[in-house]
Amino acid sequence: MEKMYHLLYPMRVCLITSKHEEKESIMAASWVFPLSMDPPLFGLSVAEKRYSCDLIRKGKAFGINIPHAALEEAMIICGTNSGRDVDKFEKANLTRDEGKKIPLIQECPVSIECELVEEHKTGDHILFVGKAIEVRKRFEEKGLYQVRGMEFTSL
Ligand SMILES: Cc1cc2nc3c(=O)[nH]c(=O)nc-3n(C[C@H](O)[C@H](O)[C@H](O)COP(=O)(O)O)c2cc1C
Repeated sequence: MEKMYHLLYPMRVCLITSKHEEKESIMAASWVFPLSMDPPLFGLSVAEKRYSCDLIRKGKAFGINIPHAALEEAMIICGTNSGRDVDKFEKANLTRDEGKKIPLIQECPVSIECELVEEHKTGDHILFVGKAIEVRKRFEEKGLYQVRGMEFTSL
């Protein structure tokens, strides 16, 4: 059967940072969406098996870092390796920009740091609800969008 969620694509790809104690990860995520303006809430849907899922639960925060087209290769590294096995900041050649609770990504035009306020199990994913506690707008650039599978475009 056609994967019905593909009907919603293209979707913007984000880089999600997470940290618990000394452990960190960065994952690629297309399932990221605004939920509320006041308070400023964002949703993030993460498969429960991801290392990031564990770190977000324990660290109670996540960073939504919005990459531009030049970060496509770094995004693919973050989306195809696990933080259980590799330091993705090093492997993807990304720079930590320390937020209030977790590292954000210096190379991204925009980062939004969220503290975890709710968690819901939605089928095979966990819906994390985060409240924005810090926004960093570094520069203007077009976003990176997942068209489908490993096909990307810049808009
Ligand atoms: C373009 C792209 C988008 C992705 N979107 C999501 C997503 O929205 N949710 C999710 O759970 N995994 C998503 N993934 C998969 C994770 O990024 C991938 O499994 C990653 O290796 C998890 O890293 P971790 O084990 O360190 O958490 C995506 C992967 C790619 C390449």
